[in-house]
Amino acid sequence: MKLGILSTAPKCYSSRRLKQAAEERGHTVRILNTLRFTLELEEGEPDLYYRSKVLSEYDAVLPRIGASISYFGTAVVRQFEQMDIYTPNTANGITNSRDKLRSMQILSRHDIGIPHTTFVRDRADVLAAIERLGGAPVVIKILEGTQGIGVILAETTKVAEGIIETLQNAKQNVLVQRFISESKGKDIRAFVVGDTVVAAMRRVAQGDEFRSNVHRGGSTEQIQLSPEYVETAVRAAQIMGLRVAGVDMLEGDDGPLVMEVNSSPGFEGIEGATGLDIAGSVIDYIASQVNFPEIDVRQRLTVSKGVGVAEILIPEGSDLVGKTLAESGLLEREFTVLNVHQGTKVISNPKGSRVLEADDGLLCYGRLEEMRDLIPQKKRRKRKAKAIKLDPQLIVDLEKSS
Ligand SMILES: Nc1ncnc2c1ncn2[C@@H]1O[C@H](COP(=O)(O)OP(=O)(O)O)[C@@H](O)[C@H]1O
Ligand SMILES: [Mg+2]
Repeated sequence: MKLGILSTAPKCYSSRRLKQAAEERGHTVRILNTLRFTLELEEGEPDLYYRSKVLSEYDAVLPRIGASISYFGTAVVRQFEQMDIYTPNTANGITNSRDKLRSMQILSRHDIGIPHTTFVRDRADVLAAIERLGGAPVVIKILEGTQGIGVILAETTKVAEGIIETLQNAKQNVLVQRFISESKGKDIRAFVVGDTVVAAMRRVAQGDEFRSNVHRGGSTEQIQLSPEYVETAVRAAQIMGLRVAGVDMLEGDDGPLVMEVNSSPGFEGIEGATGLDIAGSVIDYIASQVNFPEIDVRQRLTVSKGVGVAEILIPEGSDLVGKTLAESGLLEREFTVLNVHQGTKVISNPKGSRVLEADDGLLCYGRLEEMRDLIPQKKRRKRKAKAIKLDPQLIVDLEKSS
């Protein structure tokens, strides 16, 4: 394949390793300076220029977009998507992960552990919000910080209020998060490629520092993750729309708590800690997926009138409970059942033999009017059963029906 690595740092460890791994495998690879693209937009013809010349044909790109160039960088990635060139990390995925609030919002509707978090604006609401988190100490974070900068531990409510006010006066939006004390200056970085964790390390903060970032002096060690942590990391990356991601988790008393999902995880720390060829895993994955460029399902599926995606809930006591999908009659209607949410499981492309259970959620695509009578008007459990705009997140949890 011909691969472009989008990066403004061709000499950094990660770029060099990716290039090397691609070359070792016989691929053609070029590091392309993200900032040297020009986007061309004409009817039916999205195009890209690189260093003022038409970009040659590429099979895939791997975006390594730094936080300082998010807007332009994601625009370049989006342009590749419009041109049907494969990227493991979409512009949407990168945007989702970049902002700590946005990523927590997206993760919070799924069954993925996250530290209890609030986003509060008015000073009058701060105290109540801190109390809902269980009181001080709390962690305060600016939305787009990296490397531990902008993450502060406030020991008392008074201090927390002061910090929040100061940051807000400086026009910074802040998150307030429960301090996960049991994690004691440690966190876990899981490197996700596709549907697997290819490597994981624990980072341990130095001295009495609570932030375990390597940039804050944290040390690293290789660890073997339990299935629960692996599952959480992979699902978090999928939900964000990232196929290459560094998922950071705290070790809570009740299991993993996802703090953030990084869309351009560094290779140096994790390859150093594990001795594994992670760059090689990334290249192999991209090569295996090149024929499946991202399809913007929102653009493609909801283009005709009256057609959309909605979630049908099977309420307790419904006469559909216990019936198979084939017996339910749902397969003969003017919509298609895309997947079934059953507890924490998602069965994609369910077969007619799938037995429906109470509380199942069926994601359906087709004529919305045909679905209307199946969407309960009252008793909307967990506020889930409403017509929803098609969101790519909802169809990433692919699992083969059995
Ligand atoms: N809620 C929390 N409880 C305990 N420790 C935390 C919490 N949030 C962050 N930390 C520590 O601070 C570090 C940096 O936080 P993080 O949200 O990852 O910001 P950054 O993007 O700057 O790395 C984490 O690696 C972790 O060690
Ligand atoms: Mg971090």
